[in-house]
Amino acid sequence: MIELKGIHKAFGKNQVLKGVDIKIEKGDVVVIIGPSGSGKTTLLRCLNFLEKADDGELTIGETHVDLKHSSKQDILKVRRQTAMVFQSYNLFNNKTAIGNVMEGLVTGRKVPKKEAEEISKKVLDKVGLSDKYDFYPCHLSGGQQQRVGIARALALNPEVILFDEPTSALDPELVGDVLGVMKKVAEEGITMIVVTHEMSFAYDIASKVIFMEGGVIVEQGTPKDIFTNAKEERTKKFLKRIVPEWSYTI
Ligand SMILES: Nc1ncnc2c1ncn2[C@@H]1O[C@H](COP(=O)(O)OP(=O)(O)OP(=O)(O)O)[C@@H](O)[C@H]1O
Ligand SMILES: [Mg+2]
Repeated sequence: MIELKGIHKAFGKNQVLKGVDIKIEKGDVVVIIGPSGSGKTTLLRCLNFLEKADDGELTIGETHVDLKHSSKQDILKVRRQTAMVFQSYNLFNNKTAIGNVMEGLVTGRKVPKKEAEEISKKVLDKVGLSDKYDFYPCHLSGGQQQRVGIARALALNPEVILFDEPTSALDPELVGDVLGVMKKVAEEGITMIVVTHEMSFAYDIASKVIFMEGGVIVEQGTPKDIFTNAKEERTKKFLKRIVPEWSYTI
């Protein structure tokens, strides 16, 4: 179980997160949607301490952290249980696909090289890259690079994988492959928090959809609740803009 309570974060005078509460059960796929600047990325980054929240509480499995007074130990514990997939892949360009996946295991987790190699091959096979172990990022398509990013997250066997717009840098014809891999990961029961504008993916896969605006959660519910029966005007307005062809449903 993952729980966020009262998450606050400001950059200078810009109060970006104004008290966010989210509860996630094991195996849930939570999709976060919302306009640019609403704080979606900041929320994910606070969740794995890429950014330090000003206030709030975070529970991941057995780990409970008061974010205002977090220790180095807390940060390490949380980071061990989370992995992030970035919009821009964030791969090491001087490492091969397998090198990228092994890095976190060998350097971060101190897994022996041989074992790390075996784990890395397994996860690369899972994302459909069994023939690309030794390819450098520059010789992989965007979709393949992002699948390396997902393999790297899977290799760490985290409690939750955080995806920040994983397909928005991709050419449209490559989006499907990455979403397909994410669907497969979801079906394995891995807990996922996904920021995305891919509404049909959200509709199919999400256990819960959260609409954020202005640093707060405006509304949350099942995909059906949110996409066909949104209660808040702000949610309806956003959805009409993002998926005009759905406007008949709201
Ligand atoms: N490191 C930072 N320093 C200062 N301001 C920041 C920083 N990161 C984010 N912000 C500000 O926080 C606000 C929320 O940004 P955030 O990236 O979380 O939004 P978002 O919902 O992910 O938007 P998008 O959909 O465009 O990715 C914005 O006003 C942004 O300018
Ligand atoms: Mg963002």
